[in-house]
Amino acid sequence: MTSGGTSTTRSSFFHATAILVPLATLVYLAYRRIVTSEKEEAKSKSDITQYGLFHLSLNKLPNELPGEPPKTEWLNMGYWKGTTSFPEACRALAMKVIKAAKVKPGHSVLDVGFGTGECLVLLLSDPAVPRPSKVSGITDMASHCDRTKARLRKIQEAEHDEPAVQVNLLAGDAIYRPDAHKRWAKKHPLDPTSKEKYDAILATDCAYHFNTRRTFLSQAFKMLRPGGRIALADICFANSALSTWRARAITYILRLMPLQNRISESDYLRQMVLGCGYENVVAEDITEQVFPHFIRFLKRQGILWWLFATVLQLYTSSGARFIVISGEKPL
Ligand SMILES: C[S@@+](CC[C@H](N)C(=O)[O-])C[C@H]1O[C@@H](n2cnc3c(N)ncnc32)[C@H](O)[C@@H]1O
Repeated sequence: MTSGGTSTTRSSFFHATAILVPLATLVYLAYRRIVTSEKEEAKSKSDITQYGLFHLSLNKLPNELPGEPPKTEWLNMGYWKGTTSFPEACRALAMKVIKAAKVKPGHSVLDVGFGTGECLVLLLSDPAVPRPSKVSGITDMASHCDRTKARLRKIQEAEHDEPAVQVNLLAGDAIYRPDAHKRWAKKHPLDPTSKEKYDAILATDCAYHFNTRRTFLSQAFKMLRPGGRIALADICFANSALSTWRARAITYILRLMPLQNRISESDYLRQMVLGCGYENVVAEDITEQVFPHFIRFLKRQGILWWLFATVLQLYTSSGARFIVISGEKPL
């Protein structure tokens, strides 16, 4: 009896914790969200989203020594079909995006929201990836950009017998804003006055942050060569979720994306085709191979990750879908 009572008490305690901790986090985030000034609201989303280097620990493999840095620096949610390894899942997601963009040898490729550059590492050195002649990139955190430059430099120094791929990386918002960028020493990759055009534009697990994604899609369209493709791994929403107050409240509070980016897959397709002019648009819903596995993986990585996973779970249960979507600029 006593032991039955103890286990009931223990299980009630865990149930209460599982509900109260995420709830308290949500209340805290809601408070922060409400006290955010109008001025901060007007800033790009990227000023608020701070990624840091916390993802390095997720890349660490069980057989690596504690003091040893991880071999990869992935920062996406991964495509977990046939794997339970975070780096493998992240690589698989990046490969899906590269394939959807139909990257070919000699292409000029732009990677947007590149984090600490693992997808660029793939483009520069993975034998399974067609080698571009030029890779460009923009990401919002200067520390990530500097780190990636150093990583790519090292790879290029080690592979001196391979023909050098030209590399051009920049820290800044993915969206080109003439006022913000006119004093830049280098041209923004989506500056429409730039002569540089791309055969492929990649955005792996980041465009939902952009303010707005719609602006990004149309700026990217202008910078693609005819026949060039854009490919994104991105979040959209089930139609049924878009009208619920719960999904709206969660998006608003978590600040994962501007509200304008909360659209269904069919609206996403419509924006690409009718809004921007892309053709041969293909979308694949890979939700079931992303969220549940990523959440399960995170929940095993300690209390802070467990907390983050639980909040992400709230998000996904509010109708978030994960897709790989790509489209082409007509010839
Ligand atoms: C989930 S991470 C994905 C990183 C990388 N693509 C990968 O697969 O490992 C999202 C990235 O987008 C960047 N980001 C977010 N908002 C951005 C913006 N407005 N402009 C440029 N980069 C942005 C973040 O700093 C972060 O590096």
